[in-house]
Amino acid sequence: MSENRPAAVIILAAGEGTRMKSKTPKVLHPIGGRTLVGHAIHAARGTDPAHLAVVVRHQREVVAPHVSEVDAEALIADQDEVKGTGRAVECGLEVLPPDLTGTVLVTYGDVPLLTTQTLRALTAAHEEAGNAVTVITSILDDPHGYGRVVRDQDGQVLKIVEQKDAIAARESGGADAGALDIKEINSGIYAFDAQVLRDSLTQVGTDNAQGEKYLTDVLGLARAAGRPVRAHVVDDRWQSEGVNDRVQLSNLGRILNERTVERWQREGVTIVDPATTWIDSDVTIGQDTVIRPGTQLLGATTIGEGAVVGPDTTLTSVQVGDGASVVRTQAELAVIGPEATVGPFSYLRPGTELGAKGKIGGFVETKNAVIEDGAKVPHLTYAGDATIKEGANIGAGTIFANYDGVNKHHTTIGRHSFVGSNSVLVAPVNVADGAYIGAGSAVTNDVEPGQIAVSRARQRNIDGWVERKRAGTSTAAAAEAAGAQQTDAPQTDAPGTDAPGTDAPASGQDQPAPRHTASEPEGGQA
Ligand code: UD1
Ligand code: CA
Repeated sequence: MSENRPAAVIILAAGEGTRMKSKTPKVLHPIGGRTLVGHAIHAARGTDPAHLAVVVRHQREVVAPHVSEVDAEALIADQDEVKGTGRAVECGLEVLPPDLTGTVLVTYGDVPLLTTQTLRALTAAHEEAGNAVTVITSILDDPHGYGRVVRDQDGQVLKIVEQKDAIAARESGGADAGALDIKEINSGIYAFDAQVLRDSLTQVGTDNAQGEKYLTDVLGLARAAGRPVRAHVVDDRWQSEGVNDRVQLSNLGRILNERTVERWQREGVTIVDPATTWIDSDVTIGQDTVIRPGTQLLGATTIGEGAVVGPDTTLTSVQVGDGASVVRTQAELAVIGPEATVGPFSYLRPGTELGAKGKIGGFVETKNAVIEDGAKVPHLTYAGDATIKEGANIGAGTIFANYDGVNKHHTTIGRHSFVGSNSVLVAPVNVADGAYIGAGSAVTNDVEPGQIAVSRARQRNIDGWVERKRAGTSTAAAAEAAGAQQTDAPQTDAPGTDAPGTDAPASGQDQPAPRHTASEPEGGQA
C-alpha cells in the first residue's frame, strides 16, 4: 500500500450544518459509535498519509478538541471568513509543508461511510493514470443538489457545475444550463496533485451564484491548463453520501450497521436478526458466537468465541470471554469471564469483573465488584464495591450495603464462603475464606475463617396462637384438622403477639426451641 501512500489528506469540517437543528456540531453527531468526523478521520488515517489535516471553523471550540482526541496526530486548520470548499482546502494547505509534493486527498467530515479501501483505490487510480485531479463520482437517478460532472468527448472531466449555477445559467440563458440534465455527480472526494492544487486555488475567485470560493473550479482550471482530470466512478453511492439532517443521519446509521453486521457474519458470527442487532464500528466478535435478536454491542465491546449474547442485551464497552452466555442484560465497562453466565435481567455497572465460570443471575445489580472464578451471585442481589472471591456463593436477596450516606465502603467475601439468603453486608466488612453467614443476617463485623455469623432473632413457636387469636377462621380449622396443640386454659398474651411476625416475647411461656439453630443456617441458593 505504501506505494500509493498519499502525501496528505485534508478533511473539510468547517461547515455549519444548520439542517441538523442541533446545539451539537453536525460532525460530532455519532453513528455506529463514532462521530461523523471520527469515521472520516478513521478512513483517512487508514491510507497512512504523511499528513492529515482537519479544517474547522463552526463551533471550533468543541470540534477541534474532539478531532485531537480521535487522532492526536491530526493537524487542525482554521478556516477564515472567506467561504467555500476551495477556501477550506486552501486553509488546510496552510498547515502542511509549503513544498509538499505528491497526492493530496480531500474528503468531508460529514461523509461517514467512505472507506479506506475506496480512498486507496482513488489514490492508485490517480497516480497510475498520472492525473492532475481525480474526482470520485456517482451516477444518480436523482442528482438534485449536487455539482454535475461535465465530460468532454474523450471522457475526461471538463469541469464541475454546481446546481445553483446551472439554475442561474438556465434563467440567464447561459451555457451551463445543460448541466442540470447530467446524472453524474461530484461526490466531493478527490485526489489532487499537490502542486496543481496549490497553484489553481490562487486563481479561484468567488464569482458564482453562492459567492464562494469553489474547490470544484480547480478541475476546470487544471483542464484549461492542459492537465489530465479524470473521474473515478464509485457504484456504491452510500460511500459518498453526506449527512445534512437527522433523517440522513439515521439512514446512514442503518446502512453502516447493515455493513458491520454483514462483515461479522462473513467472519463466522451467527447474527439471528440483523434488523434488531446494532453493532458499533469498534466492536470485535469471535467465531461461532451467536448474537440473538434485540442486542446492541456498543463502544469498545469485545466478544470472544463461542459465546451467546442476547436476546435483548445492551453491552457498552464490555469484554465477554469465550463460551460465556449473556442473556437479557444491560452492562457497561464490565468484564465477563470465559464460560461465565449472566442474566436474565442483570445490570452490570462499571467496574464489574466476573471470573471464569462465574455467575451473575436474575435481578442482580453489580458495580465495582470483582466476582472471581466460579463465584456465584445468582438471584436478586445488589453487589456494589465488593470482592467476592473464588467459589463463593451469595444467597438470594443479599444486599452489599456499600454507602453510609457520605462514603462508599468495600466488602470482601472470602474463597468458598457462603452468604445465606436475605443478608445485608454493611460495609466495610470482611468475611474470611471458608466462612458462613446465616440467612437473614445483618453483618456489621468481620467474620473469621471457619466461623458462621448469625445476627437475627431466634424463632419462637407459640402453641395455640391460631386457636386463640384466629378462632373461626379457615386457618384455625386447618390447624385443628392437622392436630394442632390445644391450649386448655386461655393464656394472657403479651402485647405484640397479636400480629404474626413480631419479636416481643410472650409472657408466661417458655422460650420455644428455635427450629433452626445456628448450626444449620441454610437458606442460600445453589
Ligand atoms: C459540494 C460540492 C459539490 C458536490 C457536493 C457533494 C463545491 C463547490 N461543491 O457542494 O460539487 O456535489 O459537495 O456533497 O465544492 N465546508 C468547509 N468550509 C466551507 C464550506 C464547506 O469546510 O466554507 C465543508 C462542509 O463542512 C462539508 C463540505 O465542505 O463537509 C461540503 O460542503 P457543502 O456546503 O455541503 O458543499 P455543497 O454545497 O453540498
Ligand atoms: Ca453537502
